[in-house]
Amino acid sequence: MSKLIYYVAATMDGYIATEDHGLGWLEAFTLGDDATPYDEFYQGIGAAIMGAGTYEWIMKNTSGDWPYQDIPSFILSSRNISIPPGISAVVTHTSTNDIAAEARAAAKGKNVWMIGGGKTAASFADAGELQQLFITTIPIFLGSGIRVLPVNKPIHVTSDKRRFLRSGAIETIMDIKW
Ligand SMILES: NC(=O)c1ccc[n+]([C@@H]2O[C@H](COP(=O)([O-])OP(=O)(O)OC[C@H]3O[C@@H](n4cnc5c(N)ncnc54)[C@H](OP(=O)(O)O)[C@@H]3O)[C@@H](O)[C@H]2O)c1
Repeated sequence: MSKLIYYVAATMDGYIATEDHGLGWLEAFTLGDDATPYDEFYQGIGAAIMGAGTYEWIMKNTSGDWPYQDIPSFILSSRNISIPPGISAVVTHTSTNDIAAEARAAAKGKNVWMIGGGKTAASFADAGELQQLFITTIPIFLGSGIRVLPVNKPIHVTSDKRRFLRSGAIETIMDIKW
C-alpha cells in the first residue's frame, strides 16, 4: 500500500527551520556523496502534501519555479490562497483523513511525500495517517525554531535503518508503530 512518508531535514535539537523560517543552516551544509540521492527517493513519490507555511516558503525562495511539477500537490490552508497557473497543486482544508486518501489515490500506487512543515506532518501523525519518517539530521543545534513533529500524543517508532554519513549528518528511516 502507498505510504505517507515525512522526508525532511532537521537539526540535532529537532528543528526544521529557525523561528523566522530561515533554512540557511541547511543550505550551507554539504551532505556529501554518500547521502541517499534525492532522485532515488523522489522516483518512488506520486503525490505530495504540504502546509501553507511550507508552500509560502517555497514560493518566496524558488522564484516561482515549482519544484514538484510532475506530481500533484495538496496544500493545506484555511485561507483562500491562489495558486499561479501552471502549478499542479490544489488548496484544501477537508479532514486530514480525506486528504490522505485523496493523495494516496492521486499517487497511483507510489508513495506520498509529506513535505512538511512540522505542524502539517504532526496533524497527519495525530490522525494516524503517517507511516514513515525519513529524517536527515544535520549536525547543528539551533536552540529554537520550528519543531520537526509537534504531535499532540506520543508516536512510537521503530528504526532499523540508520546511516552515519561522512559529513556528520545521520539518515534515519523510521516506521510508525500503530
Ligand atoms: N528542513 C526541512 O526539510 C523543511 C521541510 C519542510 C518545511 N520546512 C520549513 O518549515 C516551515 C513551515 O513549517 P510550519 O510547521 O510552520 O508550517 P506548515 O506545516 O508548513 O504550515 C502550517 C499551516 O498550514 C495550514 N493548515 C491547514 N490545515 C492544517 C492542518 N490540518 N495541520 C497543520 N496545518 C494546517 C495553516 O495555515 P492557514 O492559516 O493558511 O490555515 C497552518 O498555519 C517553513 O519555514 C519551511 O521552510 C523545512
